[in-house]
Amino acid sequence: MTASGEGGTTSLWMATAAPPAFAPLREDTHADVCIVGAGIAGLTTAYRLALEGRDVVVVEERDLCGGQTARTTGHLCSALDDRFFQLEAMFGEDGARLAAQSHAAAVDTIQDTARNEGIDCDFERIDGYLVRGFGDRREDVLEREFVAARRAGLHVERVAAGPDAFAHFGPALRFHDQARFHALRYLGGLAEAVVRHGGRIHCGTRVEEIEGGRGAGVATNAGPSVHADAVVIASHVPFNDRLAVHTKQAAYRTYVLALRIAHDAVPDALLWDTLDPYHYVRIAHEDDGSWLIVGGEDRKSGQDDTPRMHFRELEAWTREHFPMAGPVGYCWSGHIIEPVDSLAFIGHNPGLADNVFIATGDSGNGLTHGTIAGLLLADLIAGRRSPWKELYEPDRKPTHALGDYARENASFLPFYGERLGAGAHEDIDALVPGEAAVVRHHLGKVAAWRDMGGMLHLHSAVCPHLGCVVHWNPVERSWDCPCHGSRFDAHDGSVLNGPADRGLTPLSPELRASRHSGSEPRSPLAP
Ligand SMILES: Cc1cc2nc3c(=O)[nH]c(=O)nc-3n(C[C@H](O)[C@H](O)[C@H](O)COP(=O)(O)OP(=O)(O)OC[C@H]3O[C@@H](n4cnc5c(N)ncnc54)[C@H](O)[C@@H]3O)c2cc1C
Ligand code: FES
Repeated sequence: MTASGEGGTTSLWMATAAPPAFAPLREDTHADVCIVGAGIAGLTTAYRLALEGRDVVVVEERDLCGGQTARTTGHLCSALDDRFFQLEAMFGEDGARLAAQSHAAAVDTIQDTARNEGIDCDFERIDGYLVRGFGDRREDVLEREFVAARRAGLHVERVAAGPDAFAHFGPALRFHDQARFHALRYLGGLAEAVVRHGGRIHCGTRVEEIEGGRGAGVATNAGPSVHADAVVIASHVPFNDRLAVHTKQAAYRTYVLALRIAHDAVPDALLWDTLDPYHYVRIAHEDDGSWLIVGGEDRKSGQDDTPRMHFRELEAWTREHFPMAGPVGYCWSGHIIEPVDSLAFIGHNPGLADNVFIATGDSGNGLTHGTIAGLLLADLIAGRRSPWKELYEPDRKPTHALGDYARENASFLPFYGERLGAGAHEDIDALVPGEAAVVRHHLGKVAAWRDMGGMLHLHSAVCPHLGCVVHWNPVERSWDCPCHGSRFDAHDGSVLNGPADRGLTPLSPELRASRHSGSEPRSPLAP
């Protein structure tokens, strides 16, 4: 397993930040609260609890670059990526207002935390522009959103066009008081603040089991356990739950490019369009120059066999709309968990004792959802009332999104049959360096990848979650499951993203040691 947890791509943030490192957990310990996962949700929760004087331990499988917070694009918004008129339909006007208020509070919290803790993370308050996507036939989409967003309490106005390089998108909604930051520098500063306030962080330690109730705590892969009065599962996707939450959310991959631009060529503002999947745009200024960051082209995890094409499509869109953009410096992809009714699941973990909590279902607003998790879970753990508790209740039924619920849960049914069908390749030895395939071997399916050095890595292709056959992701060099989005490292089969709670089964050492002296290695982004 690589330190960053993903084999193929590096985000702009990973290349321009050096977050602090933390030692693994080496002996049994006790804490008031044990938090699993050191992304923005886990560390914000740890920070809020440590501020209140609670003894917290954070256990992280990889390092601070290991999760999706290192792969984000860093838009901080109360103007959510699902429309407020849709939220009103699902949660009522009060619910939509609470959603807007909670995300605005999250942006304020990030700003305050950065200021109070002296975190240099390029935080800037900027405007956000929502434009009607070219090809979106809903002529009234901006007007409906304007009315609903205003009703939700947001400071929004209609403008004939966005500024400068945004103008050609035409009429727009201008949302005030949005923000952007460098998420990985913020995360590193937050980790240091947790430690300054008495918390402990252990990286390189995977949590394997979670107990609630009187003997609450976690067991880790390295042996030591953490005993705690409460446990928070902030692992992005819960790995301790087979179905309760996973049927209400779906895993997508989203794709991002960072292209060179002149310092003032594009407005320092956020831009999103109304397409599905939508495009999201911002700029970043780093020591080595300015970057235009464009994301989109989201696809269901593991159901997409042409991920390299999405970078090309994204680049074509970018060059059409931002012809001043220079060469591509970075391209990366990441994992987004879409709740069927748009809002995260934050609170008591359904089906477990009262002292086990989760934060998941981040959507494209996961930085603010993760920060809301820190605020809300600190309240719940302290026994305080929170106005947001019901809105984010993990046990809620998606009664107003039943169509999406049924669609998401039916989309993986065709993939269950793959376990019985023939593999795409029949011959492992035919794989050249850099190539991977699911191969039929005796009675089972083998996930076979030959690395750039010619070494074969062989694992069972059967996902340990509920038994679907994994698909190869050539961009991130991982095995991705088309059913509920679990992802596995191609080197050692370890879990990159749940819900699987364990890795792909390795196959015999003799097979794995088999070598090939074929052609030259391929770049992960080569066509
Ligand atoms: C390309 C991209 C662009 C995005 N853009 C935006 C944006 O502009 N604005 C926005 O608000 N959101 C955005 N998001 C979403 C947002 O970045 C994420 O939702 C958010 O960072 C997730 O934070 P997290 O703490 O929940 O999870 P993570 O950051 O993934 O952290 C979870 C951690 O848990 C660890 N872990 C998992 N299992 C275990 C285990 N068993 N034991 C120990 N540790 C474990 C993982 O290693 C990981 O470090 C984007 C996401 C992507 C991928
Ligand atoms: S993630 Fe559910 S079967 Fe693979």
